[in-house]
Amino acid sequence: MNIIFLGAPGSGKGTQSEQLIAKHGLQHLSTGDMLRAEIAAGSELGLAAKQIMDAGELVSDDIVIGMIAKRLSDKGALFDGFPRTLAQAQALDALLAENAQQIDHVVFLDVDNEEIVQRMLARGRADDNEATIRNRINVFEQQTKPLIDFYRAQGKLREIHGKGGVEEIAARIEQAIL
Ligand code: AP5
Repeated sequence: MNIIFLGAPGSGKGTQSEQLIAKHGLQHLSTGDMLRAEIAAGSELGLAAKQIMDAGELVSDDIVIGMIAKRLSDKGALFDGFPRTLAQAQALDALLAENAQQIDHVVFLDVDNEEIVQRMLARGRADDNEATIRNRINVFEQQTKPLIDFYRAQGKLREIHGKGGVEEIAARIEQAIL
């Protein structure tokens, strides 16, 4: 099974990924985590990505598609924070098709913007200051939201109300991917 977690920054993609990968034995592919690992390692890619991430903009499609392509395996995957643009979504479909695989479910975690800002200010990651958070939300609205219609047209979109307790939301997701 291949699942995408789609949602604004702070909507709970990482939190809910932990629950699902353990239960379904999926490979966790988070492009945000991969980029933060590059920054921690001080690689050239990491240095370039840091400035973009600190500004709340998107790293280039070629870089993130390359990171995903390197890690795809026959095991089902949970894609967390990828794809974020139409070009990434189309590339992912093509990569999976090469291995006779496809996306089964796209879980869209729907959370309102004020809740998102409050959650992230409480967390305080490097890119969790208010100006960057607002820009990340704006980038989500402009560049990632079109994927909702893309996957709805494929019959794969599962819309989940993303406010409430973590376990409660996990149960909604399980119900939606039965
Ligand atoms: P990424 O790491 O993907 O960050 P993000 O999408 O902004 O998402 P977050 O990790 O902030 O939030 P989340 O939805 O995982 O929520 P979480 O569970 O942590 O990307 C960072 C940057 O990398 C991007 O801005 C971009 O620059 C770059 N990048 C990454 N992927 C890219 C791509 N594909 N293309 C181009 N660039 C890319 O929860 C957030 C907080 O809320 C936590 O503190 C959590 O404890 C809390 N929380 C979770 N659930 C609940 C709940 N139900 N109730 C209350 N609090 C909750």
